Amino acid sequence: MKRLFLFVAICLLVVNLFAQDICISTPGTSLVLSAPIGGDLTHVYYGNKLTDAEVRVIAQIEPNNRSAYPVYGLGGFGERALSVKHADGNMTLQMTVTGVKSNKEGNANITIIEMKDKVYPFYVNICYKAYQDVDIIETWTEISHQEKKPVVLEQFASAYLPIRRGDVWLSHLYGSWANEGRLAQEPLAPGMKIIKNKDGVRNSHTAHAEVMFSLDGKPQENTGSVIGAALCYSGNYKLRIDTDDTDYHHFFAGINEDNSSYSLAKGEVFRTPELALTYSKEGLSGGSRNFHKWGRTYKLAHGNTLRKILLNSWEGVYFDINEEGMNQMMNDIASMGGELFVMDDGWFGDKYPRNVDNSSLGDWVVDKRKLPNGVAGLVKDAEKHGIKFGIWIEPEMANTTSELFEKHPEWALKAPQRDHVLGRGGTQVVLDLANPEVQDFIFDIVDNLMTDNPEIDYIKWDANMSITNHGSNYLPKDKQSHLFIEFHRGFEKVCQRIRAKYPDLTIQACASGGGRANYGVLPYFDEFWVSDNTDALQRVYMQWGTSYFFPAIATASHISATPNHQTFRTIPLKYRIDVAMSGRLGMEIQPKNMTEEEIILCKNAIAEYKTIRPVVQLGDIYRLLSPYDKLGVASMMYVSPEKEKAVFYWWKMEHFCDQHLPRVKMAGLSPAKQYIVRELNRIDNSPLKFEGKIFSGEYLMSNGLEIPYTHTVDYHKLNDYSSRVLYLEEVK
Ligand code: DGJ
Repeated sequence: MKRLFLFVAICLLVVNLFAQDICISTPGTSLVLSAPIGGDLTHVYYGNKLTDAEVRVIAQIEPNNRSAYPVYGLGGFGERALSVKHADGNMTLQMTVTGVKSNKEGNANITIIEMKDKVYPFYVNICYKAYQDVDIIETWTEISHQEKKPVVLEQFASAYLPIRRGDVWLSHLYGSWANEGRLAQEPLAPGMKIIKNKDGVRNSHTAHAEVMFSLDGKPQENTGSVIGAALCYSGNYKLRIDTDDTDYHHFFAGINEDNSSYSLAKGEVFRTPELALTYSKEGLSGGSRNFHKWGRTYKLAHGNTLRKILLNSWEGVYFDINEEGMNQMMNDIASMGGELFVMDDGWFGDKYPRNVDNSSLGDWVVDKRKLPNGVAGLVKDAEKHGIKFGIWIEPEMANTTSELFEKHPEWALKAPQRDHVLGRGGTQVVLDLANPEVQDFIFDIVDNLMTDNPEIDYIKWDANMSITNHGSNYLPKDKQSHLFIEFHRGFEKVCQRIRAKYPDLTIQACASGGGRANYGVLPYFDEFWVSDNTDALQRVYMQWGTSYFFPAIATASHISATPNHQTFRTIPLKYRIDVAMSGRLGMEIQPKNMTEEEIILCKNAIAEYKTIRPVVQLGDIYRLLSPYDKLGVASMMYVSPEKEKAVFYWWKMEHFCDQHLPRVKMAGLSPAKQYIVRELNRIDNSPLKFEGKIFSGEYLMSNGLEIPYTHTVDYHKLNDYSSRVLYLEEVK
């Protein structure tokens, strides 16, 4: 009896000890935390999937003194995830675990670790959502209190992750308007690396809220351990990587608290945006594949539905919109095999017609002088041509020269006692999305368009101004610091209403080009416009960077005119097509200015793209040779999940005589499968030597194919560009 009692007691003790250790798992990864009731929540491990036995051992041997969510005030002086000011002036927190809850949500397991301050009725829930079909764990926090007066949140990161020092390299994206998504890779060094945005409206022009850490030295695309992180937020963010005197890099990610301290009322729950974490043993491309799969399956509107091939009117006609011109463009794209036409800026405004960019935003009525039969007339024309119709709007904005501004000047953001700081066209202002009336107005823009013209298939939603006036007429005086946060809450509310009523609509997130490539908006948007720069050569760099986090299905990539309107570079059509075909293919050109030969080339490319579209848009990415490595060529490929089809891209990046370009080895194929190789968009007089030949995946991945440096075309057609798209199909 005594023995039995002892045995039960030991068992209970063991269960209790293990109950402290929480293992959050996805198919290939584990995150281990120590969460003793009444004790501190600490981070133990994040990496490759562990067995139960390993979790038990690791929990005992790994140092577990690193807080999983460091708070400010007591002990230590390092960077913190959360810092607050209680109403009594106390600036400290001391959080201990009070409970752990778990449940299932669809295909994911949710774990919530509840914590309470030792003294104050102040609560933090650390939440994890572990997907069971993709290696992504989302984490966020819910902060609340029952103190008598508001508590001011000074810093409120979504998450913290310690990363073991060694030879850790950071990959992140930077850039500017017309040069978005540039890849930067650097070893983490002592000191603080900050990646941030303060635009207020758009957040991915100058930096991105997504990063990858290569843990085994210089980043490799298809080998090595990688941790990836993507903050799912559409507003200002701050990512901090602090390398101090410890063994760890300290990674924090969340809303940018600058000018945004938040007064949290009793009972209110402040939910931070999710930080999506991934871990891969297959290098940076492995990390990308995880983000892409998760993005398509869970984050992107219609992430698994193939996108239509479209013509957008912007670079073709700019503001010169008229019925005849639109009809001609619709006819042209339809005859090339396209499936959708999008009328861009310039179609609206009654009292103030939108002829240039200095008026009319806010007046979302058709300019009957340009379009006597309204949008309905265009929709009919589209139907006649057998294609769908889409339309451009910029709903969050107004111009001071607009009927809207005359009626509702108080809806524009502006600091009291100050004049407006004006944006695009010298007259643009940002509307106050914190204001529910403004939210209704914006919802109605879409609702009215769709009610009048239910056939509208696609909306290009633009946003061309930052918040340059800190002031909301709607928010009370003591909540002006909530402006940036409330703007994005308002934006999200509008998006939710639109999606609830119009679930099937395709919506593009455009924001002066690539200003809204983030996983905060993508649940409501199908895709984003990568950049206003459509120059194919520069696009290779931008789309390469963007592909780190976002799948091709979301990456709008258009064939445009030459010389290019942004860089004035002259690039042959073949190369422009071959670059555009690596993303969501579209056209941004005036077809009536194209030669017959060019039309035929595009028609053929559109037909070829339809064949490869499922592989490009739903396949797995393998980046092979980076344009950033400056080896004269860039190359990547998509492979279908079953590995029976693949598309290989090869773009020459520079041109010199006696140049020696590397031979590119393929990746991601099945070594044992046999593939027949066919070149797409061929312009050469004779086929490539390997055209129609069959190779094993093993051969293609060990040796690659010898790609000729130039095209064999007639002398007068020779130029300095060269590119190839190869389609591989399994032969059984
Ligand atoms: C900025 C966008 O990025 C462009 O594609 C175009 O839609 C213009 N705005 C229209 O004003």
